[in-house]
Amino acid sequence: MATIDSLLKEKRRFSPSTEFAQKARISGEAAASKLRALAAKSPEKFWDSAAKDLLWAKPWKKTLVWKPPFAQWFVGGKLNLSANCLDRHLDGPRRNKAAILWEGEPGDRRTLTYQELHYEVCRFANALKSLGVEKGDRVAIYLPQVPEAAVAMLACARIGATHSVVFGGFSSDALRDRILDAQAKVVVTADGGYRKGAVVPLKENVDKAVVQTPCVKKVVVLKRAGCKVDWNDGRDVWWADLVHGRSAVCPAEPLDSEHPLFILYTSGTTGKPKGVVHSTGGYLTQVAWTTKHVFDLREEDTYWCTADVGWVTGHSYVVFGPLANGATTVMYEGAPLYPHPDRFWAIVERLRVSIFYTAPTAIRTFVRFGDEWPKKHDLSSLRLLGTVGEPINPEAWLWYQKVIGGGKCPIVDTWWQTETGAIMISPLPGATQTKPGSATFPLPGIVAEVVDKAGEPVPAEQGGYLVIRKPWPSMLRGIYGDPERFKQQYFSQVAGGTYFTGDGSRIDKDGYLWVLGRIDDVINVAGHRLSTMEVESALVSHPVVAEAAVVGRPDEMKGQGITAFVTLEAKQAPSDRIKDELRAHVVKAIGAIARPDEIRFTDSLPKTRSGKIMRRLLREVAAGQGVKGDTTTLEDFSILAKLQSTDEE
Ligand code: PRX
Repeated sequence: MATIDSLLKEKRRFSPSTEFAQKARISGEAAASKLRALAAKSPEKFWDSAAKDLLWAKPWKKTLVWKPPFAQWFVGGKLNLSANCLDRHLDGPRRNKAAILWEGEPGDRRTLTYQELHYEVCRFANALKSLGVEKGDRVAIYLPQVPEAAVAMLACARIGATHSVVFGGFSSDALRDRILDAQAKVVVTADGGYRKGAVVPLKENVDKAVVQTPCVKKVVVLKRAGCKVDWNDGRDVWWADLVHGRSAVCPAEPLDSEHPLFILYTSGTTGKPKGVVHSTGGYLTQVAWTTKHVFDLREEDTYWCTADVGWVTGHSYVVFGPLANGATTVMYEGAPLYPHPDRFWAIVERLRVSIFYTAPTAIRTFVRFGDEWPKKHDLSSLRLLGTVGEPINPEAWLWYQKVIGGGKCPIVDTWWQTETGAIMISPLPGATQTKPGSATFPLPGIVAEVVDKAGEPVPAEQGGYLVIRKPWPSMLRGIYGDPERFKQQYFSQVAGGTYFTGDGSRIDKDGYLWVLGRIDDVINVAGHRLSTMEVESALVSHPVVAEAAVVGRPDEMKGQGITAFVTLEAKQAPSDRIKDELRAHVVKAIGAIARPDEIRFTDSLPKTRSGKIMRRLLREVAAGQGVKGDTTTLEDFSILAKLQSTDEE
């Protein structure tokens, strides 16, 4: 609520400096307006011309075939994403340019030029083929943030295998569910990865997961942390042994524009994560265009997006977008505060990073640690800053602008989702006057609106549902194996069959869009999306739990925190030990990101007469506010009173 209140009061405006605007790819408001008008006339034409920036093996016949809710873009065209990210840069000076500048958490470093990355990708692609991986097969990737993660993704793309990257912070149970859903044939992992000075036992997690996944034939293991691992001779193979002596000649397979490039699991409103499917041609078109124009990317930039490849931001803006543009992308393996809160700033200084893209939750954490950490470093190389993942409160925005950007860098607050594949709403940095906390306007070629349940636009300054009216190239093509859920989840909640984002939003009187956050049962913890149902089903799978309700509560640092209301089995007495056990249980089922911040025991949960848990009330209780509004549908009023007096931890 505090964020929303401050967003409502925000009056400050920031224009790009003349110096920035003059050199920008889209220079000045007049140029931006012209582009917007052109794109508005025909979004298809606009995207058609963007697609021509890519390397196609065969041109497309039709720009868009739209049979709601299923879109196909650049139909009949053939291309290969890895050829776009690598091969086409090899016959000019980019060949010896750094593609990836990598730093491990312990401080080890590697640079891969475009030529070297191409070499590694081709060898690994041949290695995958030798394991029996064919076009259309699924490969699960469960790696730390190391260059091999990009190599594995690009190698899959090269041979037409669909990758499913699973974030290294997910537990073995979560990994198992994702492997099974996608029916992956091969898992690519590492012995371990570094996080906050400790080693995350990735191989151990894979071992636990794959005993329950008969679809997995081979596990490829990268030696990263040097920790001891168990070995299954018939199944496991070291990455180094697999590529040793392998040919680096591997022609990129021309693939249909609609060929599924990757599946990425994300949380929805039910307990089961959704496998969001992305295409090749449409996805790369929008990812490449947005990387170039939203970040105003140039040949000489050193570009750093701090996301992990396990999330969509890592796919689109650490790996594919920058490489498709022939840029130098920075990758850092570890935690932002390790060993000290200036780790990011030390990297910016050493590499002279010019474009820096991170999450509001990280910015708020840096605010808390104080200005002295960034002030230790020369950050003058920065020329553009970006944020993504959740609404940014104006205070954090202003700190970012002043302390990190030295008052001279435009900030692009980029709104998008796993499902949208690429940035949808964002300032154009050389043109748009920004308001701290607002993602400003839909990009050219994107038709976003704020509507009511009936699909009618709501008046200015009024809250409503954020919808995308027209198909866009990088939109998800479906939920893996579940077309019904795809329709139900995205195209049935707002009348008129328009795509509903799950976000609430408002457009102010100047036309600026303010995203207010999720309005479904999805919560956003430190920029990571979680379903309250997912955490609930983890809790109720514990033998002592009779019932659980999970809600988000405001958290100054993480945006939202997790409060779980738990009813224990009658014979089980509440205790701190049980709380700890339940927390550990959730971590095992999902991962550390889902650990409840607060567990509150209750005799029973407040429900409507039809048995629905009254989450709104629980949210208010969790937020520490008095319960407002209508409570007459409560089955037992005493429960609510009791809940409110439950001791906080
Ligand atoms: O609620 C919105 C929020 O993050 C959700 C998407 O989460 P995910 O699929 O994990 O992708 C995150 C990275 C693209 C959205 O529905 N969100 C994302 N960016 C913003 C945002 N909320 C406000 N402002 C943003 N810039």
